[in-house]
Amino acid sequence: MNNSIKNYTQEIMKKDQAHFMHPWTIFDVYKTEGALPIEKAQGNHIEDTDGNKYLDAVGGLWCNNIGTGRREMADAIAEQVMKMSYASPFVDMTNVPATELAAKIAQLAPGDLNRVFFSCGGSTAVDTAFRLIQYYQNCRGKQSKKHIISRDMSYHGTTYAAMSIGGKKGDHPEEFDFIQETIHHITAPKKYGQFDDKTDAEFLDFLLVELEEKIIALGADNVAAFFAEPAMGAGGVIIPPKGYHKKTWQICKKYDVLYVSDEVVTAFGRLGHWFASDDVFDIVPDIIISAKGLTSGYQPLGATIFSDHIWDVISEDGHGRCFAHGFTYSGHPVACAAALKNLEIMEREQLLNNVNELAPYFEEKLNSLRDLPIVGDVRGQGFMWCVEFVANKETFELFPEEMDIGKQISNHADAKGLIVRPIVHLNVMSPPLTLTKADIDFIVDTLRASIDETLIDLKTQGYSYE
Ligand SMILES: Cc1ncc(COP(=O)(O)O)c(C=O)c1O
Repeated sequence: MNNSIKNYTQEIMKKDQAHFMHPWTIFDVYKTEGALPIEKAQGNHIEDTDGNKYLDAVGGLWCNNIGTGRREMADAIAEQVMKMSYASPFVDMTNVPATELAAKIAQLAPGDLNRVFFSCGGSTAVDTAFRLIQYYQNCRGKQSKKHIISRDMSYHGTTYAAMSIGGKKGDHPEEFDFIQETIHHITAPKKYGQFDDKTDAEFLDFLLVELEEKIIALGADNVAAFFAEPAMGAGGVIIPPKGYHKKTWQICKKYDVLYVSDEVVTAFGRLGHWFASDDVFDIVPDIIISAKGLTSGYQPLGATIFSDHIWDVISEDGHGRCFAHGFTYSGHPVACAAALKNLEIMEREQLLNNVNELAPYFEEKLNSLRDLPIVGDVRGQGFMWCVEFVANKETFELFPEEMDIGKQISNHADAKGLIVRPIVHLNVMSPPLTLTKADIDFIVDTLRASIDETLIDLKTQGYSYE
């Protein structure tokens, strides 16, 4: 590598360390190691400032569905900027891309989910759902319905409400405060390493009883909504036992509790369908939250999609009500134009078919890693997968968290040109929906080689797998 490239990288890293505070940065590590500067992205690949190329098996952050660097997307964005870069969405003004996109989303969404509120990303879409739920329950005279039930290990974003609804332990450090009185977490539907002594049916039953008992304990008249990701993402790609969503949805219906499906990761193709709620899990939630794949990360945008029933209640004639909630950038015309083009590309190139055709191969290839002594579990669906690493397969014993086994492995993968996302004991993948069979081969072969190298490193850390 020539010196000027090296100097440039160092200069960027230094500036970054001095000024750019990153989300989820571990200060000690960041201060000493800095962050890898990424400078270019094309299709399924990204490139750092040293010119190293990587296959991005994380799809940015679960968001790059159509692949990066598309001229058509750039043109659609530029065209909208030149036509009208901004228009206020407040009160009684609208703009054409936002209107068209809301109608398109309603057409794709299940059941009577025909109403769309735009925000700036997933967290603000979750926050909007949280406020919409309060508004709806108050409008219908159910002022006591204030409690929310969600799951351990869930991730719903980073606003105060969204982070309080989320249940990932690592996201609730003592330095932050959370809404505690009205938000309750029940067991995540993760069987591996936690409920291995139960059959699938017993585990499902346990989860359903827990939800119903929680509603009864709080009092159905006090419970407003249940939040669930169809497939838990950041919590570790957790696909619930068969029937879980249908049955939890039925329990919510029984007790007049709104069912909120957080499809920020799963919507727009990740599980091979526009939305996972109905096509994969056979439910029509009251509210679906989406973001990420809606624009494939070309522009920030979130959409809270809700039922005509909720709309009818909150907008009932004669009350003179106003939904006093919104963002300067709700329905941003450039973001909405990007989303419309993104959806058009997905339809034209039949990217959902690509997921459905390649997912079985992806699954089979990833499962071939199970012969490695520290690969405990391989799980996922569609284009959303993870490998869970354990110190001992028989006892499910994990490596100590401070060893950061996921990161040890992903560091080796980085060096071989593959980006996977390390989350403590896991390597997580959510690649672009444009992934090819050859890309899958590269991902799995590189992961195997990276795990093999880690096994050698582990010897010096007191773990031996002869
Ligand atoms: C399920 C889920 N909900 C909400 C969010 C928050 O989205 P954003 O980061 O766009 O605010 C995320 C982000 O990863 C997510 O995975």
